[in-house]
Amino acid sequence: MTLNEYRNRIDAALAEYFTLSEDYPQARLAEAMRYSLLAGGKRIRPMLVLEFCRIAGGDVEAALPVACAIEMLHTYSLIHDDLPCMDNDDLRRGRPTNHVVYGECTAVLAGDTLQAEAFGTILRCDLPAERKAACAEILAGAVGLDGMCGGQYLDMSWEGRKLTEQELTEINSRKTGALLVAACQMGVAAAGGSRLMLDTAGHFGAALGMAFQIRDDMLDVLSTAEELGKPIGSDSQENKNTYMVLMGEEGCRQTVARLTDFAKNILGEAFDDTAFLCALADSLADRKN
Ligand code: IPE
Ligand code: IPE
Ligand code: MG
Ligand code: MG
Ligand code: MG
Repeated sequence: MTLNEYRNRIDAALAEYFTLSEDYPQARLAEAMRYSLLAGGKRIRPMLVLEFCRIAGGDVEAALPVACAIEMLHTYSLIHDDLPCMDNDDLRRGRPTNHVVYGECTAVLAGDTLQAEAFGTILRCDLPAERKAACAEILAGAVGLDGMCGGQYLDMSWEGRKLTEQELTEINSRKTGALLVAACQMGVAAAGGSRLMLDTAGHFGAALGMAFQIRDDMLDVLSTAEELGKPIGSDSQENKNTYMVLMGEEGCRQTVARLTDFAKNILGEAFDDTAFLCALADSLADRKN
């Protein structure tokens, strides 16, 4: 599938979830979940799930719920990341943030519910039981204490302090890298792929994830809110530690290029058909949103 075909397939599958009719008492919670989920993200994580599943020899259609699950989880992380107690942002995916529209209580619960439904979506799907369990275990690790949530905690508690490159990597490998690693590995796990495939997918995801957050930090300075669909200057406003502060624009550019090359090269250790992933990595290196 091409990038657009993947995106359309994922968007269509996501649109099927949480369609409560209006007479349910909690219909507005479902509406809040769908508001952020269907706001049109890039769908990078579900795309990685599906493509790694394909090149590991799996059935892409059967892995679709796993792909939707990671997008639910990611959307939850964005809703919470934007809250006033965290990054305090009012624009996301080109729309007012969840708490601006639905209020903080509902936004918190929309995030919580998306997280639970993500695991439910994996565990209810038609893959063999041991593959579902592997996917859920990878996702849990990527979100938990040593994953996205742990990274978000460090991001917040080290605000305003000057960090070393190693400390910044500690944050970013967790807050952003962990979920991208998980996306790649869940694709392999959904296909029942080998240990070597899992490890290689993990190395690819880690390098891609690091490059992805560096590019995100660059765009917060260099882009516009219209193009980005989220506010610019949010990082400096919140006194965040970013790669732009640490290594400047040119340093960021070089590091993204180096990490992207590393990611592309390592794929050959376990996979043959890597053209799509190489093109995706290249396109993310100079993405505009
Ligand atoms: C934004 O993720 C948050 C980070 C981890 C940097 P994306 O850039 O993938 O956001 P969407 O899903 O396209 O909105
Ligand atoms: C957040 O990083 C990563 C998440 C876990 C959501 P950022 O705070 O830089 O993400 P954006 O720039 O708001 O998308
Ligand atoms: Mg943040
Ligand atoms: Mg943020
Ligand atoms: Mg950012």
